[in-house]
Amino acid sequence: MSSAFSETVQARIDSLRQQIDAANYAYFALDAPTLSDSSYDSLMRELKELEASHPELVTADSPTQRVGANVVTTFDPIAHRTPMLSLDNAFSEEELREWEAKLRRQVGAGEDFAIEYVCELKIDGSSISLAYENGRLIRGGTRGNGESGEDVTHNLRTIAALPLQLRPIAPKTEAPAKPQAALSLFDDVEEEPSAADFPSLIEIRGEVFMTHSEFARINSEMEERGGKTFANPRNATAGSLRQKDPSITASRKLDICLYTLGACEGWSFESQYDLLQTYKQWGLRTNPNVAICKNIDEVLAFCESWRTKKESLNYDIDGVVVKVNSFALQRELGQVSRSPRWAIAYKYPALQVRTKVEKIEIQVGRTGALTPVAHLTPVAVAGVVVSRATLHNEDEIRRKDVRVGDTVVIQRAGEVIPEVVEVVVGERTGDEEEFVFPTLCPSCNSPTERPEGEVVRRCVNLICPSKVQAQIEHFVSRNAMDIEGLGEKQVEQLIATGLVKDPADLYTLELDQLLPIERMGEKLATKIIANIDSSKTRPLSRLIFGLGIRHIGEHGAEVLANHFGNLDKLRTATVEELSGIFEIGKTTAESTFAYFAESRNQNLLDRLESAGVRPASTETAPVSTAFAKKTFVFTGTLLQLKREEAEAMVKARGGRASGSVSKQTSYVVAGESAGSKLAKAQQLGVAVLTETEFIEMCDVKEEAQ
Ligand code: IVH
Repeated sequence: MSSAFSETVQARIDSLRQQIDAANYAYFALDAPTLSDSSYDSLMRELKELEASHPELVTADSPTQRVGANVVTTFDPIAHRTPMLSLDNAFSEEELREWEAKLRRQVGAGEDFAIEYVCELKIDGSSISLAYENGRLIRGGTRGNGESGEDVTHNLRTIAALPLQLRPIAPKTEAPAKPQAALSLFDDVEEEPSAADFPSLIEIRGEVFMTHSEFARINSEMEERGGKTFANPRNATAGSLRQKDPSITASRKLDICLYTLGACEGWSFESQYDLLQTYKQWGLRTNPNVAICKNIDEVLAFCESWRTKKESLNYDIDGVVVKVNSFALQRELGQVSRSPRWAIAYKYPALQVRTKVEKIEIQVGRTGALTPVAHLTPVAVAGVVVSRATLHNEDEIRRKDVRVGDTVVIQRAGEVIPEVVEVVVGERTGDEEEFVFPTLCPSCNSPTERPEGEVVRRCVNLICPSKVQAQIEHFVSRNAMDIEGLGEKQVEQLIATGLVKDPADLYTLELDQLLPIERMGEKLATKIIANIDSSKTRPLSRLIFGLGIRHIGEHGAEVLANHFGNLDKLRTATVEELSGIFEIGKTTAESTFAYFAESRNQNLLDRLESAGVRPASTETAPVSTAFAKKTFVFTGTLLQLKREEAEAMVKARGGRASGSVSKQTSYVVAGESAGSKLAKAQQLGVAVLTETEFIEMCDVKEEAQ
């Protein structure tokens, strides 16, 4: 090819890239599109075609090169130059005022010393850190434990709103105008960007998130394909960032907003607001909903106004981040533990929305408990579509006077099942119907019982199909015998065909018997049989938990497994022996004894044993007693440890991990976005630890042994 020809092609490619970059900047950073979708697409198409016929002219930062060809096999660790901090929370006006009073005291600010704040929306996504060297994106990673995260550059590059190359800041208008070059790379800048236009190195930080509409689109696509759906946009974002194949991430259309700074060399910012403006001028997307507030009253007004306005956003926010504007003041304030003193997250409480009760249904659980469930007109609560909420029991329905047809307020807090808070009585039309709580089991028509002093009504039929269904679902569940492939539908059919009447029947199933089940191929059936087989040696505690003994949760099952070491001893234990075990109370001892006193249950255990179920006694005595009699509650997202790991660390030191905070709790370990449990701990005066403090405590205790 003649060099003159390739120069012309090069010029056209340059021009196309420049037009595309300019359009991206206008669209994403300025929120002021300059091109129609179809013009943009045709520029992109032409560029792709030219690059396809001239592969030697393809550059890494060409807009066509966002989705690399490489599928990564692992996520390499990426060390943050400066740690990624987290924020303290304020849940009320009072707490916010306390925070400001404290920082004022610290800098010795008198009454007439004004402190300016920047208020930003607290976007609920995944935080990330991007390293730009001389304006060019070189790496991007997740937050991880704050010190180091995972390299997800391949996926971040697919985010259309993220510039691979920053734009130089346009000279101020008063600067003498230079003659415009015919084909400048950026339409409002005369020369190619030079090193001096950008910091030599900067860690730019922000949030990757997913809009509600994109979330809905992906979930409906996944549902159609019969796959698992994401619980909320935050999980969908985190899941998309952790894809090994960037083309999957690219298909998910993630969004990004940048709002803070890590390491920075060769540039200085005056203030948070200056930083946001500079980011925007560099072509980075910042959130338009920011405000400079002259005092804490203005801050509170901003927070208040977004309490309702947030519902109209197309993405989730869980609060407002308030930052001291001046960087000089920020430096003076510094940080405590892993949180800066100059910023705080003002969090909105649990989300409440209104919807209608379409019907009330009774669910029969594995202990035969009849639980009323309200079926609701589907409604989105913080990005999650809710269509059912628990009404707890018959007394609760009466107390709240929930009727079919009522408009109700429902609430979802964290991962808790949504519940009906109250009825909006003013919305009643008179057509609402009172719910009559059944006295017969809706599943098997047998009589039900509600013992005196208890709120729960139960079906007493031992072979009630709903009960058996729930028992088997529990037995195979992940934290019990973990038999993958047997979901609700499969279990239902196994019961309906009479093949399975109790958990022991699972172990006699044969391949041919599984094949007639709907949507069951030979491959899946073979896998299920193998999974059933490998469950035979699960730890004893899981088998005990899987039996579904009343009052025996995962922790209780572990205590029993540790104490007895094998099933034979447990099966013959007396109430006295059981109640003598630390952490096994009288009620638990009695229900455990009652379970084993039932000949049906003894028979089930015999059959499990003859089917080859040999639970492994892997439970070991605690390695130390450093945390003896100490109770820990973990809340929020842990970044360095998995929840199970953290709990295992407590148990290994002789302590216990619990799910709820009470006066008996020794420590609450609060991870990212900790909410109500943290608030409760503070209210009760329970000691709160950060994840790092917890790890340190484990290490120290270990060394001391
Ligand atoms: S500033 C040192 N600003 O909230 C300051 N954070 O626990 C670090 N977040 O991990 C964060 N929107 O993922 C800041 N406008 C915003 C934010 C924001 C969301 C997230 C971020 C961080 C968490 C704080």
